Amino acid sequence: MAAEQRTLLQLVSLGRALVVVPDSARSQLHDGLVAVPVVDAPEVTTVIAWPAHSRSRAVADLVRTTTRLRENFTSEVVAGRSSRVGPPRSTSRARGRSGREQGMAVQGAVRSTREIERAVVTGGAGFLGSHLCEQLLDRGVEVVCLDNFLTGSPENVLHLMEHPGFRLVRCDVTDYVHVPGPVDLVLHFASPASPLDYLRMPIETLKVGSLGTLHTLGLAKEKGARYLLASTSEVYGDPLEHPQREEYWGNVNPVGPRGVYDEAKRFSEALTTAYRTSQGTDTAIVRIFNTYGPRMRPNDGRAIPAFVGQALAGEPLTVAGDGSQTRSICYVDDTVRGILALAFSTETGPMNIGNPDELSMLELARWIVELTGSSSEIGFIDLPVDDPKVRRPDTTAAETALGWRPTVTSEEGLRNTVAWFAAQREAGSTRAS
Ligand SMILES: NC(=O)c1ccc[n+]([C@@H]2O[C@H](COP(=O)([O-])OP(=O)(O)OC[C@H]3O[C@@H](n4cnc5c(N)ncnc54)[C@H](O)[C@@H]3O)[C@@H](O)[C@H]2O)c1
Repeated sequence: MAAEQRTLLQLVSLGRALVVVPDSARSQLHDGLVAVPVVDAPEVTTVIAWPAHSRSRAVADLVRTTTRLRENFTSEVVAGRSSRVGPPRSTSRARGRSGREQGMAVQGAVRSTREIERAVVTGGAGFLGSHLCEQLLDRGVEVVCLDNFLTGSPENVLHLMEHPGFRLVRCDVTDYVHVPGPVDLVLHFASPASPLDYLRMPIETLKVGSLGTLHTLGLAKEKGARYLLASTSEVYGDPLEHPQREEYWGNVNPVGPRGVYDEAKRFSEALTTAYRTSQGTDTAIVRIFNTYGPRMRPNDGRAIPAFVGQALAGEPLTVAGDGSQTRSICYVDDTVRGILALAFSTETGPMNIGNPDELSMLELARWIVELTGSSSEIGFIDLPVDDPKVRRPDTTAAETALGWRPTVTSEEGLRNTVAWFAAQREAGSTRAS
């Protein structure tokens, strides 16, 4: 047996990940060595392209690359950091190869640790999307932000416009999605997300969850990109299991008013999974729990902006029902860090990202009155139909697989949020005067 073949076979025993030799290099290698488990880390798949002109050169490159992969994987992913992972730039790109081609070369479902150089963020001018764009740019990733401004606004990304790596494109992802050039990551975040928005726009919500997801998955497949679907804790409906683990199938009323959002997300999860299993697209699903922070719209109907706005205006805080229903609230920086940790990993999800600290709506309202120093009273309004009574993520999976957990305390997060809303109010009244 040739020395280089022995080297490869020794590498096989190192771990469970797959290294896929590109078709161009296939003829240079022994048939049985096309898919080689290399990295000593669970479930890592990478696509490595190397010069095909010499077999020994290929083996030498493989040894070098896998050594770096092992180092990267241990130091960055296992430690829970979501910074770049993957083989060196010169050998990591498999541009132009569709997810299907890559998938066929391995086992149908590709998970790759290739570098992320260019990302598409749908709904990037919204609350979460704008923070994602910002953090991606901070990590040196180019961002193409697609948004039709249905519930978002260019103002949310105004501060990014001068950034050379940022592009904002007005586009409805339910129509058609075309992005010229390479794309390494697609983050599908476009969708009305607050109950007020999706109750007002039920068809748009169903369309963006179905057609929007279909088109963005098509984009990821075409580009051979990793795909991350923004799903939601609402897929658990009014849960009969508490806290909610990813294995729980949920308790959703498909024909209730909230069904348009919950079922759109459940459908989009099914579609994402089908692309993964039948098309070999490298997908992941994140189930995001209630997130709050700067750039929420004051009037979007969600509890925190509503309470903060009311408290700052000295108006009564409108607590639904008797306020005993619980939510877990996660500060946006923590949520976005968790989302990107998943995006840059090889995990598929569904994975809960949220803060497991649970509090009642009444406690939240009282806290906001205190933090704003307001003299507002607390009033009670009718509980919305099908409003979940409890909501708390089990985040064991994210902690174990990504080393992620929220670090911002509710007090710190709420203080930041109150300060941001107060500054917005101040700026608004200055503009008006
Ligand atoms: N914020 C949360 O607490 C939370 C919780 C769970 C899930 N999520 C999910 O995260 C994503 C973002 O939520 P958000 O809170 O930032 O909401 P948001 O309303 O602030 O942002 C959504 C963005 O999507 C855009 N959009 C909607 N339809 C579109 C279309 N057809 N084409 C292009 N752009 C479109 C909107 O204009 C907006 O900019 C959503 O998918 C939501 O379901 C959010």
